[in-house]
Amino acid sequence: MTSTDERVVPMRLQKFLARAGVASRRGSENLMTAGRVTVNGVVVTELGSKVDPLVDEVAVDGKVVNLADGHTYLMLYKPRGYLTTMSDDRGRACVASLVPVRRYPGLFPVGRLDADTTGLLLFTTDGELAAKMLHPSSHVWKHYVALVRGVPTSRELDMLRRGIRLDDGMSAPAEVRILAADDKASTPVIPEGMPYGHTVVGLSIHEGRKHQVKRMLSAVGHEVVRLHRDEFGPLFLSDVQPGQWRHLTDEEVRKLSLSERR
Ligand code: URA
Repeated sequence: MTSTDERVVPMRLQKFLARAGVASRRGSENLMTAGRVTVNGVVVTELGSKVDPLVDEVAVDGKVVNLADGHTYLMLYKPRGYLTTMSDDRGRACVASLVPVRRYPGLFPVGRLDADTTGLLLFTTDGELAAKMLHPSSHVWKHYVALVRGVPTSRELDMLRRGIRLDDGMSAPAEVRILAADDKASTPVIPEGMPYGHTVVGLSIHEGRKHQVKRMLSAVGHEVVRLHRDEFGPLFLSDVQPGQWRHLTDEEVRKLSLSERR
């Protein structure tokens, strides 16, 4: 635990407790001042104290508290053909049918992927975390793998790296590179192998405008044929099959709670 040093400290103890579902912020402060909260075994009553969820062990009345206790966090491997919405009045396939909405009321997707985009979609019941992750100032980086028509030149890649003009304004600079066809990351966009005259591009952005990756690549002359997301902030799409979901690990939840503060 730390309250005064220069190390980057993640969050106030009362916020940690509230996020873990122990009590409201005020209720958590009361628990602290009543001497019922320990950090690494030491009673903490000072309301300004901060904890690092990655390393500190927080307990209330001796019971260890985890950030994931109060909310549900899961990753879905979104397949093609599903809308990122919890219901559709036209009866189209929605991601809601792929996640356990009855077991976890209030579950919703953090951000969206286009219907034809595959990959990592985070779901949670934690509105506070979602709002922070989606806020433009959070700069949550997302990595996409795109199969595009044609072969981008180094000049075109540099245009994306500098930021490119879109119809709703300049994009922020992207990190971009050409991926080899045999790179493991390429597999989801070329399941049947590399079509002639196409290229696989890896691209990271921290904005979340509508169809942004497709529009950025189109702006340099390369239509996106398939798009897949394999990273969202600190999360990597792993240990989950297309159309399936899994709970985030405690470690992943802790990392998320750090990333929303960037
Ligand atoms: N950018 C897009 O164009 N589509 C997505 O689904 C995600 C990012």
